[in-house]
Amino acid sequence: MSALSELCQEILVCQRCQVLAENRTIAVPGEGAEAADIMFIGEAPGWHEDQQGRPFVGPAGMFLNELITSIGLRRQQVYITNVVKCRPLGNRDPLPLEIHTCRHWLDRQIELIRPKMVVTLGRYSMAMFFPGKSISKIHGTAHRQDNIIYYAMYHPAAALHQQSLRQVIEADMLKIPALLAEAETVTEVKQGPKQLNMFEG
Ligand code: URA
Repeated sequence: MSALSELCQEILVCQRCQVLAENRTIAVPGEGAEAADIMFIGEAPGWHEDQQGRPFVGPAGMFLNELITSIGLRRQQVYITNVVKCRPLGNRDPLPLEIHTCRHWLDRQIELIRPKMVVTLGRYSMAMFFPGKSISKIHGTAHRQDNIIYYAMYHPAAALHQQSLRQVIEADMLKIPALLAEAETVTEVKQGPKQLNMFEG
């Protein structure tokens, strides 16, 4: 069994947050390619995800699938996970303590997958990698740290509630291939840290 599969097994039996563990149907560790270049990080499982043990399989997931297809990829080629691996009852927002407690799993997933790009979906995952920033200001921008590009997007569910955000999210998604390609060029020629065109000033 791969280290990532072992990690997912550990997440499935995690009891670190008593309330979440007691109320979940199944924990949702994440899924996708173990050697994915891109890792998408959402907020927390919703009802559908809690039933199936898979991330982004409800309405927001359908839109995420479309977005992934729009950049010529399939869901199986990326890795999809959440900040918090168990559904907060009633789809309430995850608590700061739950986010803190669950971060351990996310950090290990990033270590094992070593994606070239981490795409944060919504403000909870954005807050982890862009602390103190506002999503309305930084969506569609990236910064690079330890050879990983962090890229902030609105949560796909936002488009379901607010139609005007749909085009914004679609446009932000379409910037990803160029960012990845540019980052690969920088890595290949070993130019060291460099400000990339679409990156935050
Ligand atoms: N919303 C999320 O943030 N994650 C999911 O897995 C599903 C919906």
